[in-house]
Amino acid sequence: MKVVLSLGGSVFSGEAEKIKEFAKAIETISQENQVFVVVGGGKLAREYIQWARELGSTETFCDYIGIAATRMNAMLLISALHSAAKKVPEDFIEAEKLSKLYKVVVMGGTFPGHTTDATAALLAEFVKADMFINATNVDGVYSADPKADPNAVKYDRLSPQQLVEIVSKNSARAGTNVVIDLLAAKIIERSGIKTYVILGTPENIQKAVRGEAVGTVIV
Ligand code: UTP
Repeated sequence: MKVVLSLGGSVFSGEAEKIKEFAKAIETISQENQVFVVVGGGKLAREYIQWARELGSTETFCDYIGIAATRMNAMLLISALHSAAKKVPEDFIEAEKLSKLYKVVVMGGTFPGHTTDATAALLAEFVKADMFINATNVDGVYSADPKADPNAVKYDRLSPQQLVEIVSKNSARAGTNVVIDLLAAKIIERSGIKTYVILGTPENIQKAVRGEAVGTVIV
């Protein structure tokens, strides 16, 4: 199988040991699958974007700074992997080329205007992935933000159309931290890629690849 994994930047706000554990899980799944990982910017991106804003940077330039942070994090993950390409591809064509030579390809963002969730969904569409895994800090898709609304209900299974509906509704509320960005949801809808939204742990990633029930599956 071809698997695209979107790994939230929160993984990189921790210690080296945590990165090692994710690297181990990625190595394990790469034994039987071609793996692409798209890494988020985490704390590094947030801090640098905040400083750049204070210095008068435009939002587009902040996005470029965010992209640079995601690529730094991609290089960190590569440091912990044996079977990954040592080059962080800057676009999908380069990523696909590298995948012919390496079992694991790790990249960050591509261009301004969205987050790495959307980058990863676009990559999944581009390489015709069999599975897209969005490893995040919530254990699935909820009817509302579970941190803000105690009545929020978790979905085990959704259609891509239902995902777009939920994400559109939630992202309309200012300050809501949506589990997957709207562009990513729309890409999932148009490409029909089987998607898992999971709490990002090494175990859950392996469960999703094995097709076990975890998080929310979008089919
Ligand atoms: P992230 O994907 O880490 O954004 O990219 P995020 O909102 O912090 O996501 P989570 O919370 O880790 O899931 C960091 C920033 O880099 C820019 C955006 O500014 C984004 O907020 N970026 C990233 C882009 O402009 N384009 C990309 O393709 C990727």
